[in-house]
Amino acid sequence: MTDTTRAILAALQRRRATSFARVLIPGEAGTPDLAVQSAAELDAALAKRADLPRRIAVGAAHFATGADAHDLAHPGTTSSDTRPLSGQVAIVSGAASGLGRAVALGLHRAGACVAFTDVDRAGLQAIESELGDADHVITVVVDVTAEASVAAGFDAVLARFGRIDTVHCCAGVAPAHDLVDFPLDRWELSLRINLTGYFLYGREAARVMRSQGHGGSMVLLSSKSGLEPSKSNTAYNATKAGELHMARGWALELGRDGIRVNCIAPGNVFEGSKIWNPDYIAKAAQKRGIRPDEVIPYYNSLTALNREIKGADIANAAVFLASEQARCVTGQVLVVDSGQVWTR
Ligand SMILES: NC(=O)c1ccc[n+]([C@@H]2O[C@H](COP(=O)([O-])OP(=O)(O)OC[C@H]3O[C@@H](n4cnc5c(N)ncnc54)[C@H](O)[C@@H]3O)[C@@H](O)[C@H]2O)c1
Repeated sequence: MTDTTRAILAALQRRRATSFARVLIPGEAGTPDLAVQSAAELDAALAKRADLPRRIAVGAAHFATGADAHDLAHPGTTSSDTRPLSGQVAIVSGAASGLGRAVALGLHRAGACVAFTDVDRAGLQAIESELGDADHVITVVVDVTAEASVAAGFDAVLARFGRIDTVHCCAGVAPAHDLVDFPLDRWELSLRINLTGYFLYGREAARVMRSQGHGGSMVLLSSKSGLEPSKSNTAYNATKAGELHMARGWALELGRDGIRVNCIAPGNVFEGSKIWNPDYIAKAAQKRGIRPDEVIPYYNSLTALNREIKGADIANAAVFLASEQARCVTGQVLVVDSGQVWTR
């Protein structure tokens, strides 16, 4: 997508804050209800009329618009959806597995249109077939460490829905080694995925949301290890603590744009996680002097509630932070750990 297409969609958002839009391919174009030559002309034309033109042409680019996602997919129909995230468009990184997948599914259940993004193409395809909801779901292959890939991912979401309201950074890795044996390449990989990846998503989100002019929210999935260190986890501890502080700075910087930035710090979540693979569980068992099959009950027993944390528990926190219910919450860390760390 060219900057001009982003500028056109942003102009539409600034004048019609609740509207959705889709970039049309040449065969779909038809006769527009409004034809102008530039984003500035679109802005001026929309300022003079109260309706939402259903087909807009700006130069050679054509767009379909809708009052909400339902209307965009099935023109002329109205939706009575009252779920907390109805009318929002979300993009989630690391959404093919574990907590990213759980968060993205939770946002979808809460009524959002959701872009599942990940490097794992097969995992994304499986989710797309499982959900079977093309009106509200897209999947996009994005490598969070590559600037151009992240920009292209955001462009794909804008081309499909015309807006982005909430961004959830979840793609992460956790190589565990003793400090004296920590390989430099594993340290650098952690920095690239856990810090650069979050930075690139946050920067792109800020650019889009600021230009749309109606705020938004970002949720960074950190970890309890960002608050209290885990043993033999140097890169994870450093990057997860870095995410917390990056979010606080963004909350300060973006508050005047109505953009809220918060973190979730989950405790250990075993369900569906590829971080908690058999090797990782074996290392955790060795670290604690227990058998691998004792690891989950052992970690649960470290919590005040003695309760296993599920993906849905993290998703519920993400839905809350993205919703209007959290409109006065920014720069915070919501710890979802059944009561394990007491640092905030
Ligand atoms: N599982 C836990 O116990 C736990 C606890 C606290 C925080 N977290 C956080 O949750 C997040 C997910 O962890 P998980 O346990 O679900 O892991 P996971 O390995 O199951 O999922 C991580 C996902 O990130 C994707 N990914 C990796 N590199 C990528 C890249 N360069 N670009 C795009 N996607 C990429 C993977 O393909 C995978 O789908 C991480 O940020 C982690 O720090 C997990």
